[in-house]
Amino acid sequence: MNPNESRNRALAARDLRHLWHPCTQMHDHAGAVPMLPIVRGEGPWLIDADGKRYLDGISSWWTNLFGHANPRIGAALKQQLDTLEHVIFAGFTHEPAIELAEELVRITPAGLDRVFLADNGSAAIEVALKMSFHYWLNQGHREKTRFIALTGSYHGETLGALSVSDVALYRKTYAPLLLTPFLAPSPDAYEAEPGESPEACAQRRLGELRVLLERHAHETCAVIVEPLVQCAGGMRMYHPAYLTGLRALCDEFKVHFIADEIAVGFGRTGTLFACEQAGVAPDFMCLSKGLTGGFLPLSAVLTTTPVYEAFYAEYSAGKAFLHSHSYTGNPLACRAALATLAIFRDEPVLERNRVLAAHLASRLAPLRDHPNVADVRQTGMIAAVELVQDKLTRRPYAADERRGLRVYLHGLEHGALLRPLGNVVYFMPPYVVSEQEIDLLVDVAIAGIERAVAGSS
Ligand SMILES: Cc1ncc(COP(=O)(O)O)c(C=O)c1O
Repeated sequence: MNPNESRNRALAARDLRHLWHPCTQMHDHAGAVPMLPIVRGEGPWLIDADGKRYLDGISSWWTNLFGHANPRIGAALKQQLDTLEHVIFAGFTHEPAIELAEELVRITPAGLDRVFLADNGSAAIEVALKMSFHYWLNQGHREKTRFIALTGSYHGETLGALSVSDVALYRKTYAPLLLTPFLAPSPDAYEAEPGESPEACAQRRLGELRVLLERHAHETCAVIVEPLVQCAGGMRMYHPAYLTGLRALCDEFKVHFIADEIAVGFGRTGTLFACEQAGVAPDFMCLSKGLTGGFLPLSAVLTTTPVYEAFYAEYSAGKAFLHSHSYTGNPLACRAALATLAIFRDEPVLERNRVLAAHLASRLAPLRDHPNVADVRQTGMIAAVELVQDKLTRRPYAADERRGLRVYLHGLEHGALLRPLGNVVYFMPPYVVSEQEIDLLVDVAIAGIERAVAGSS
């Protein structure tokens, strides 16, 4: 290769010859959208093959907590690599999985004392849906075959997880293949009535959920929600009262409560788990993403002893739960998770995040007055700015204008990885970000927003 040639360009060309990337119209890469080869990570920074640095404002799809190439997690992995890389998890076990289960049971809400491992977020959702259905079947309730999901929800893109998701972009094409859940209106505070508080909005939505349950609880296995923040649906946020009310309704109507904490777990919302803010324990809690600090794919579904016992019987009863992935309980991933949880144990992570979150809030506050910003919202270490064409009517930009893409491209140009969801510019940085780095992210985002909305109103 010519030493003056861009290594970025050379690697990108090889990539585009054979690879097919997720969530991507590959044709975009024939035009203005670069394919960026990353060769190294360092704290909240990503470094490309030409040496340019990008501040990872979205924690690489919300997975990274303590920085790229975190030395503590890396060291734990290196040790595990020389000991045991993998073993079948049926009939065999190992210390990293045992310790991880003990630790997850210790830190999650009381009552969640059984742990089923899988290898990504969507798989955890599949497990929770199947386990809930199968629980009711084992209890003799053959009629329970449906689920209730919230409007605007996202739980992954395998067919089961996509079935209980309601983001049109991902769902509509595949709709003919999917289960059809009952949709309950989201308690999303952005959609509150004029003058209605987030809490009042949550209560009103609980009333609507009650009506749905009165009609359909007999055929419903579970209600599945993303606690406090509907992330892929546009970082829409809601009041914890909804979760408290949901727990009560699920008990009253005898349906399970599935909490998908895949994106919001591990300190994102200000508490270790979002459910804590409502003082509730779900029947199933799905965890992934931050579980390994962003190092390796792993997920866990936690559930209760009563659920476990409904499957526990003589083999001949045919009640065993049937779900298996080859890499279930991978020891390397479990080690990465243990090292991640050790950081939470040893360092004041949540306290530090509170300071960072307050700083982020103060830096974003001026955007509230921007003529093309309808809402600036934040829950812990997730903040979002809703861009609109018209502030008064909150008329959104048409999706095909791709305003968010303009912010993304501006970010890359200026050393920040921001990846808006449609018209929503959001911030979800690794917890090792500094206040100065938050300043940089926000400054780049504001300039990007100015460029994105130029010529719009
Ligand atoms: C709330 C939530 N659930 C499930 C998933 C799916 O996880 P994965 O991408 O690991 O399949 C995601 C991914 O973004 C998510 O945000």
